[in-house]
Amino acid sequence: MKIPFNKPYFTGKETEYIEDAVKNGHISGNGKYTKLCQSYFEKTYGFKKCLLTTSCTDALEMAAILIDIRPGDEVIVPSFTFVSTVNAFILRGAKVVFIDSHFDNPCVDENQIESLITNKTKAIIPVHYAGVACDMDKIMEIAEKYQLFVIEDAAQAIDNYYTGKNGIKRPLGSIGHLAAFSFHETKNVISGEGGMLVINDESFNDRAEIIWEKGTNRSAFFKGQVDKYGWVDIGSSFLPSEIIAAFLWAQLENIEFIQNLRKEIWINYYKGLDEWAKNQDVKLPTIPDYSSNNAHMFYILCNSTKQRDFIISSLKMKGIQTVFHYQSLHSSVFYHQQHDGRVLYNSDKFSNVLLRLPFYIGIDTNYVIHQFNNL
Ligand SMILES: Cc1ncc(COP(=O)(O)O)c(C=O)c1O
Repeated sequence: MKIPFNKPYFTGKETEYIEDAVKNGHISGNGKYTKLCQSYFEKTYGFKKCLLTTSCTDALEMAAILIDIRPGDEVIVPSFTFVSTVNAFILRGAKVVFIDSHFDNPCVDENQIESLITNKTKAIIPVHYAGVACDMDKIMEIAEKYQLFVIEDAAQAIDNYYTGKNGIKRPLGSIGHLAAFSFHETKNVISGEGGMLVINDESFNDRAEIIWEKGTNRSAFFKGQVDKYGWVDIGSSFLPSEIIAAFLWAQLENIEFIQNLRKEIWINYYKGLDEWAKNQDVKLPTIPDYSSNNAHMFYILCNSTKQRDFIISSLKMKGIQTVFHYQSLHSSVFYHQQHDGRVLYNSDKFSNVLLRLPFYIGIDTNYVIHQFNNL
């Protein structure tokens, strides 16, 4: 049996809605399906304003423009993340100050943030790794104290929640000033490539629409707010076509179904591997009490890189694809010379021992678990 790492899930309505968009004669951006998706997110998760983008990378780049990052500004970003979290700010001339992960989960260690703040710091970018929440109360408190922006990298965190000290459960992506989501085909809900910028700080609303539409006030023109449109700011082509939005709408209509199935897979893995992990000195994921679980990913923490290599190659021979994840960005070819030399122990540890298991709707988890038990 072949078990790939990922298989995109289709609800069956995707092509119907794409055909509908084609028949409607509007396949460029900001049409019926874009509006349906955006207002779904706004209503379901209480996000103040949503703009679909062609990727999470684009949403992060929009965020960097919106908070007006300039050369010399500093941003605090985890080293254990995808390059886009960092590139968005580097592109605008920022200096990146890398922060380490928690000891037992790859999210940023919020207790280290304050020591990294200088008078040049402009923003903190928490990444909700595997969809698991960073400690947003602490992060927002620090941001308020030092007047910093918080941009949640919620690429993997759709439909997940953070419970704050006051006991109130809030959706990830609704807490920072801005947030960025991904609908890449490896995520829980997908549109091939795709993403979304969430704007929770209303002062960014008007400028966000302008940046989204290549630096023009086209959106205001279509709303009848101005009688002609033109070039008013910098921007780019961040908005996706209706074809992408139509695909995403078919997914959003089924988000509850998708999430229930993904949670079952996650629990099957957890229960099925618990005993094996204890015997092999392998750790299963830990989720802090303040986070719920959106079952974006199931990973294990091996006891060494050697053990991880052995598991990857043994399972490969049985047709099962397992993959490791990010390599610490502070030691990347591109940035290591600009890093200040601090050792980021946990980030390196996750780079060296974290292993992601195949995860998609329809997977035979019993087969994978059985093969783990027969390694
Ligand atoms: C944490 C994180 N941020 C940003 C991205 C970029 O997402 P996209 O592929 O939608 O641009 C990814 C990609 O998986 C990611 O893992």
